[in-house]
Amino acid sequence: MSTYVVVGLQYGDEGKGKITDVLSAKSDYVVRFQGGDNAGHTVYVGDEKFVLHLLPSGVLQCKGKCIIANGVVVNPKSFIREIEQLESKGMNTDHVFISRRAHVIMPYHILLDTYREEEKGGTEIGTTKKGIGPCYEDKIARVGIRMVDLLNPEILREKIEKNLRVKNSLFEKYFEKPTLDIDEIYNEFVEIGKKLQDRIVDTELELNEAIRDNKNILFEGAQALMLDIDFGTYPFVTSSSPSTGGVCAGAGVPPTSLQNLIGVAKAYTTRVGNGPFPTELDNELGEKIRQIGGEFGATTGRPRRTGWLDLVSLKHATMINGINNLVITKLDVLSGISPLKIATKYKTEDGKIIDYFTSSTTKLYDYEPIYEELEGWDENISTARTYDDLPENAKKYIEFIENYLGINVYLVSVGPERSQNIIRKELF
Ligand code: GDP
Ligand code: IMO
Ligand code: MG
Repeated sequence: MSTYVVVGLQYGDEGKGKITDVLSAKSDYVVRFQGGDNAGHTVYVGDEKFVLHLLPSGVLQCKGKCIIANGVVVNPKSFIREIEQLESKGMNTDHVFISRRAHVIMPYHILLDTYREEEKGGTEIGTTKKGIGPCYEDKIARVGIRMVDLLNPEILREKIEKNLRVKNSLFEKYFEKPTLDIDEIYNEFVEIGKKLQDRIVDTELELNEAIRDNKNILFEGAQALMLDIDFGTYPFVTSSSPSTGGVCAGAGVPPTSLQNLIGVAKAYTTRVGNGPFPTELDNELGEKIRQIGGEFGATTGRPRRTGWLDLVSLKHATMINGINNLVITKLDVLSGISPLKIATKYKTEDGKIIDYFTSSTTKLYDYEPIYEELEGWDENISTARTYDDLPENAKKYIEFIENYLGINVYLVSVGPERSQNIIRKELF
């Protein structure tokens, strides 16, 4: 048995999609276990760009099966759109399946997400407006609609009716917006059920069998630990558990089956959406990193906020996830910037020096990062393929991270293309 979990360690967009794509060539299964189409995972194959939102990035290379497991919230219209896009490029998608237990993002979830954000006027989370939060709320409130319900028209109608009674009243009375029509939604989702019926299966059974049969299984995280509903910068987070721990509940596999826990971090930090960001560079250098790194959201197109690497938050993220293999991406983006700063501690509002990540989100705005400075390098490193190809200062940067976190960097990514990697240890 070999299982691999790829999770983000910062605020998302670390390059999880690229790493999943690389690892999926040798995987029998690639599995999404949380989140939904709020994700944007970019993979470059040569010059061709693929952005996957809901489908596992493994869909491009995995010869086995790609699974959207029970912990994911599925917008079936996005699913169909992505499948059609891949098929229009001549790719086969018969190997993509969705759990019967996965919850469905309904049109009212998207509207609720949108109206709530609009209402906050200035204090909004900056969600992707994909309905993620409202869908998870209904799951926990036990009123959600699951993929299996799409195959059962009578039950589906009953559930939509019950939900619309509450949601329409909110739309009309609280938000002063138009209400939704039951027949329209019901007819559309019955048709979707018919279209997807062969792909809606009991994924947990097959995954556990695969574990017993010693298959290679890759679990692909979306979002990241600093957006985790429990351990991120609440309430500026997403509504799922994008941690390695999230895999067990999100895919129905036991904790004892998880082996290689791979954490992906950028060589600097980015964040899209609102919330505290202690090492943010709201200046010319931040703009330079945004331009060189192409830091614009893959899902919403929003400019990503940029900043220095933050080892205090990374330590928190590696601890919660139990990471045993690190990946550092986008090291190439830092070429030509010197000195490079890395936050190793925070100074609190009352002058205390701490080296752990606080649970008090509001206080974080007043914390001052304490930096170590490292000398940069000028060389273009995008063609480096072995560790020794890297300039000494780039190696020192990597080794500084390893020493602080006490975890080895097994892969350094030096460009967006699938082959632009320095692999220091083969995991497969
Ligand atoms: P994900 O959400 O974690 O999969 O990451 P995104 O795809 O949203 O954002 C990462 C962006 O960085 C994408 O545009 C990738 O093509 C790009 N990328 C990934 N790794 C590297 C790298 O090592 N160097 C550079 N320059 N770009 C990279
Ligand atoms: P990937 O998988 C970066 C952010 C949103 C917002 C917050 C809540 O590409 O790394 P949501 O729509 O989930 O309710 O929004 O989380 N967010 C992401 N930021 N990458 C992502 O996914 C994200 N998914 C959600 O910007 O701040
Ligand atoms: Mg992304």
